[in-house]
Amino acid sequence: MSSDQPSIILDCDPGHDDAIAIIVAARHTNVLGLTTVAGNAPLSATTRNAIIVRDLLGLDAPVHSGAERPLIREPKHADYVHGKSGMDGADLPEPSGPPASTDAVGFIIDTCRANEGAWLVPTGPMTNIGLALRAAPDLKDRIAGISLMGGGTFGNRTAAAEFNIWCDPEAADIVFSYGGPLIMSGLDLTHQFQALPPRIEMVRALPGQLAHVLAGLLDFFSHTYTSRHHGIGGAAVHDPLAVMALTHPHLFTVKNAHVEVETDGVRTLGMTIIDQRDLKEVPPGNCEWQTHVDADAAWDVVVEAIAHFSH
Ligand code: BDR
Ligand code: CA
Repeated sequence: MSSDQPSIILDCDPGHDDAIAIIVAARHTNVLGLTTVAGNAPLSATTRNAIIVRDLLGLDAPVHSGAERPLIREPKHADYVHGKSGMDGADLPEPSGPPASTDAVGFIIDTCRANEGAWLVPTGPMTNIGLALRAAPDLKDRIAGISLMGGGTFGNRTAAAEFNIWCDPEAADIVFSYGGPLIMSGLDLTHQFQALPPRIEMVRALPGQLAHVLAGLLDFFSHTYTSRHHGIGGAAVHDPLAVMALTHPHLFTVKNAHVEVETDGVRTLGMTIIDQRDLKEVPPGNCEWQTHVDADAAWDVVVEAIAHFSH
């Protein structure tokens, strides 16, 4: 770890693309911990997957499990994208043990208080982060900011809503209105970053168990995308972009924007409303909205990170 790397807590629901976010984070940040949330799969599965990825990397960071369900809504999962396990497509090793605790929210609060200037990076439903901000409002002034994957101008779970926000819109609303620095990597951005076949082959060509596992995961993930979408060349690899927003900001184009989360709409629940009106009455921006990524260069970052941990 180098001292100019950002310190982060990665709050995730692995998830194929969350696994890649963990790898990029392990390579380019000081990972204070991984916290898990129910999302792509039930909490027991996302926690198991986070521990397995952590073990494969030999990463010295604790995994703490957190919320089993959204703040007020029923839990919903995404086995139609990630399979029942949350990370179908590869023979995964057994995890080395249980999580360090089941109190992700307490871990987030204590760790942010003990490490001023850390970033929170949610790549799943934002239940843990919302609970932490609500229980400890002082975090707003202790963290460097929040870089999240979620939202965008179109949906994937519904016509209007992206999965992470749709799962727990009330928690996302707390995050979008918390008042500190915020970076949004939404679907507009992440659909530019696809696991195209030649990109998966770059991973498959690497030696070792990690690369072998990841090539299998990416094959599965891409197959679910290409079978469900018109005209997509591979899976949208969403989550590592929320990490790279911090570690490789030169790869992105951003706009300052005011974004709110819809928590009431019958058809628009979980929509991120990005105020693009050219009017003076538009409220000041509350987030850096990432609009464009240099996808080839970002994929090189992913491949180099996998290669770094491959042996
Ligand atoms: C988000 O939902 C999950 O399926 C992915 O892991 C990503 O975090 C994309 O909508
Ligand atoms: Ca995720």
